[in-house]
Amino acid sequence: TEPQTVLLDKRGRVGWITLNRPRALNALNTELMNDVVGAVAAYDADPGIGVIVITGSEKAFAAGADIKEMQPKTFSEVYTEDFFADWDRLSAARKPIIAAVSGYALGGGCELAMMCDLIIASETAKFGQPEINLGVIPGIGGSQRLTRAVGKAKAMDLILTGRTIGAEEAERSGLVARVVPADRFLDVVGEVADTIASKSLPSVMMAKEVVNRAFETGLAEGVKFERRSFGSLFATEDQTEGMAAFVEKRQPEFRHR
Ligand code: HXC
Repeated sequence: TEPQTVLLDKRGRVGWITLNRPRALNALNTELMNDVVGAVAAYDADPGIGVIVITGSEKAFAAGADIKEMQPKTFSEVYTEDFFADWDRLSAARKPIIAAVSGYALGGGCELAMMCDLIIASETAKFGQPEINLGVIPGIGGSQRLTRAVGKAKAMDLILTGRTIGAEEAERSGLVARVVPADRFLDVVGEVADTIASKSLPSVMMAKEVVNRAFETGLAEGVKFERRSFGSLFATEDQTEGMAAFVEKRQPEFRHR
């Protein structure tokens, strides 16, 4: 069945997922979660795709988990259903996922952006974890990923006060990779995605894997994992081609992209 809450569009080797519940500012309900997770899995398995982009509207990336869906739930339901645990399936994607954030990325919206590998923000972006204002706390990994991204001081500030920060403060804090002028936003996101998609896919996937390993393990183990991964790329035709192209002063023609 066709997804109802997202728009899907393949442009070259980039798989776009546009959150599309405009009347609810892309609030993340169960249906949208299933649509996003399903689309990511399909792009991840598609050999024609090298990079995935998740974006929203100009006004809102996503204004949070759907408060109207959550409101009637009891503890027993939230606990037994493991409400929203399926978002974890995003982490199974092995191709890079770019979060392209314009407007509100609040609560679960900020958490979704942080589950992606790289956040590119429009200068209009606003990030926050306002759950405290609803009598709850972040529930899709925000307390962990925000703290790793920006450190304890800023994470405590945002999560305890519920305040919202703009794109500039988000970049200064290390939450976002780049801030882009609003009128160039989607063009720049497309350029970044095309750039990554033009590289050799095995090296791109391995690069994502080794960077993410830094969040899961100690330094010595991480460095060893990187060195083994680096060595294994010498078994690919694209390493042969990439280094030959440099020596011959020409552009590489990667086979695997
Ligand atoms: C459900 C939402 C929503 C949300 C907005 N809407 N955010 N519906 N869940 N998170 C709906 C509004 O109810 C409204 O619907 C419509 O979208 C437009 O929103 P407005 O509030 O009228 O727009 P505006 O005045 O521009 O204000 C924008 C806003 C505000 C500042 C972003 O909407 C807002 O504060 N939203 C909630 C943000 C939030 O608290 N997020 C955290 C959620 S908790 P109607 O029908 O009235 O037109 C969370 C927990 C994660 O994410 C953990 C889960 C396990």
